[in-house]
Amino acid sequence: MTGAFQVVAHRGNSSVAPQNTLAAFEAAWRAGADSIELDVQLTADGEVVVIHDDTLDATTDGSGRVDGLPLADVRAVDAGSWFAPAYAGQRVPTFAEVVDLLVTRPGIDLLLEVKGDWGPDDVRKVTEPVLRAGLADRVIGQSFWPSTVASLQKVAPDLRRGLLVERSSDDLLATCAELGVMTCNPAGTVLLEQPGLVAALHDAGLEVMVWTLNEPEQWALALEVGVDAVITDRPDRLRGWLSGN
Ligand code: G3P
Ligand code: CA
Repeated sequence: MTGAFQVVAHRGNSSVAPQNTLAAFEAAWRAGADSIELDVQLTADGEVVVIHDDTLDATTDGSGRVDGLPLADVRAVDAGSWFAPAYAGQRVPTFAEVVDLLVTRPGIDLLLEVKGDWGPDDVRKVTEPVLRAGLADRVIGQSFWPSTVASLQKVAPDLRRGLLVERSSDDLLATCAELGVMTCNPAGTVLLEQPGLVAALHDAGLEVMVWTLNEPEQWALALEVGVDAVITDRPDRLRGWLSGN
């Protein structure tokens, strides 16, 4: 068995609080997670908000595309009631609110997923607040879009960045090298298909953060193959499981 991995709370502690809300991030911190993972999207007026889907429909009482609505309209919807009445009043956070939260919670880092193809000007909307707040060593930017990772590399080369991977491919190591990423972050299914992948990525000098693993048998596999971080909806349970290993 290799050493334990970091615990990353997927969309916050999303098993106990509504995903991608300040309540879920607070719960992740209370659960002892090492990092919060969250997703950012742009509103119609170019503001950065924290939400997973392209639309408001699944996780708020509103509807419509996030990039089709101004910030004021996105902020007006309720992002908590769908999960449980106790969370009524939770808003879709702005990225600025998350930066403020991190400043007041020094014990937890951020895995920031940029959803979509963002050019340098849009990427600066997340990197500049991070750098201004002195959080450079606590944030990793990641995306499924290689073009967005390239924008991160261009505008904030010193900020750690990662490539998200949904399917295995023969040119993965070459793509990672080209983008100069520090982490390669595959789906758990990719690890099952390619058991030697973690060792190959480590040999290339990359860290590996795997998603989204919620069950003990998946955590055991992650421990066995030596991943660096597990992204989970259940950071509290994973923290407890790790303490027994
Ligand atoms: O951080 C990795 C994971 O969040 C990617 O999938 O769809 O949950 O954003 P998704
Ligand atoms: Ca995500």
